[in-house]
Order: sequence, then structure tokens, then C-alpha cells
Amino acid sequence: MKLIKIGTAIAVSAIMAIACQHKANTPAPANTGSNNNGGNNNNGGNNTVDTGICFSRDILPIFIANCTQSGCHNATDKADGYVFTSYETITAKEFVKGNASETKLYKAITDNDPKDRMPQAPAAPLTNAQITLIARWINEGANNKTNCGTPCDSNNFTYSANIKPIMDTYCKGCHSGASASKGVVLDTYDGVKNATLNGKLLQTIRHEAGVSAMPSGGAKLSTCQIAQVQKWAAAGALNN
Ligand code: HEC
Repeated sequence: MKLIKIGTAIAVSAIMAIACQHKANTPAPANTGSNNNGGNNNNGGNNTVDTGICFSRDILPIFIANCTQSGCHNATDKADGYVFTSYETITAKEFVKGNASETKLYKAITDNDPKDRMPQAPAAPLTNAQITLIARWINEGANNKTNCGTPCDSNNFTYSANIKPIMDTYCKGCHSGASASKGVVLDTYDGVKNATLNGKLLQTIRHEAGVSAMPSGGAKLSTCQIAQVQKWAAAGALNN
């Protein structure tokens, strides 16, 4: 039930989010990612074990997917001087570790006035789960925890266990459904397979010349993650 609701929210925000006068690019829907603590598992009724907030897994993808579009808070456009593409830049300006309510970005995502709220109207606000998660992260000291969960092992490269989670966390926000950026759909196996077998996906994540570096506006994937995608591609991009 919860998942269905979140799915609807994604669809709605994908249609509505047109803030920041995007050029040809696509608004990013809320990224629910594949994390195991969507901010609601301390509330009872949910059996998922809470392993604590992991910045790279739980927090960064929300910013990348919702704030870094063209014209917004990426390294080029720096709207209002804010850049939300890495731990260093997210915590750099008017950010109070340990105190969400004193932190400007938290005030912006919870502002009731659609004119001041971020993401700007008519984009949909972040979901309550995402806002709760960001509040908790800041209030717990805004730790820069990365490499959480199972460590990356480049010898493991199945679609279900390795490739899909990478796409869900780092790419799906801008590459799903009818509004996928450049028509590249990365939330289905077929879409990922096509983009992989035509070479584009690997070129973009390796940041090769002549293609746009992906994830757009975000940090490069780790060497291990890139190796997993390369090995999966070389083995035929199977649905395994
Ligand atoms: C914040 C939004 C955003 C995220 C996140 C993102 N992309 Fe993109 N992607 C875009 C946009 C916008 C374009 C079109 C860029 C252009 O035309 O220069 C694009 C284009 C692409 C293309 C087509 C490139 C070409 O030259 O044809 C591929 C492949 C791609 N992205 C893969 C990925 C992968 C893989 C990830 C995750 C690792 C990812 N993207 C994450 C916004 C994003």
C-alpha cells in the first residue's frame, strides 16, 4: 500500500515538476531509492531493520534527483549560491550540523509558501518520508557516511543484486517513464539493457568525451560500481 502511494507520488511529481526553467532536460521525480530506512521505519508497522542513515545511499540521491536540474543547484548554475551535488557542497552554506530547524535548506523544503518552497512550485514538494529523513540526518549531526551496507565487490555483477540498485539510486530520478531524460529509460530492465548495449550508458558513467557525464550534476560512480556495469555489459547484459 505504502509502495503504491509512493509510486503515485513519483508519477505526479514527474508530471508536475518543471521548476527552474529546465531546457530540454527532464524534471526529476522524488527518488525513493532502494534504501532500507525510508524515514518511516521507526514509526512502527514496518519490520525493516533500521541500519542508520547513510549519506551516500539515503540522502545524496534525494538532492541529486530533485535539486540539481539545469538552472538549479548544480555546479554550473549554482542557484542562490547553493550546490547540492556532494557532501561538501550540501553542508557548505547556512547549514547547521545537529540542528535542522536552523538549517536553510531544511527551512526551504518545509516552507508552506509554494513561492519559497523548494523544490519550487509547480514542482511537487519532497515527500514526508524524504523530509523526515533529511531532518533526522541533520539532527544526528549530518554525518558523511558512505559505503554503507554490503561493500561493493566488482566480481558481483548481476542485474537484480548490483546493477538495478545502482540505477535506482543514481539514475532513475531523471530517467524513468515517459519523461525520461533524452528518452533513456533506466527504471526497467529493457531500458537499461538497451542503453548499455548501444554503448551510451558506459560512456556517460565513465565520463568519456562527447557525451554528457552521468549522473548529471552528481559525483562519478565509484570505480567498483563502474566495473560492475562494465562486467555485466561484457557478459551480455543479462536479466539475472
Ligand atoms: C539529475 C538528472 C539526471 C541524473 C541523476 C542522471 N541523468 Fe542521465 N541524463 C540527464 C539529462 C538531462 C540528459 C540529457 C543530457 C544531454 O542531452 O546533454 C541525460 C542523458 C543521459 C544519457 C544519454 C546520453 C547521450 O549522449 O545520448 C544516458 C545514457 C544517461 N543519461 C545515463 C545516465 C545514468 C547511467 C545515470 C546514473 C548513473 C544518469 N544518467 C543519471 C539527466 C540525469
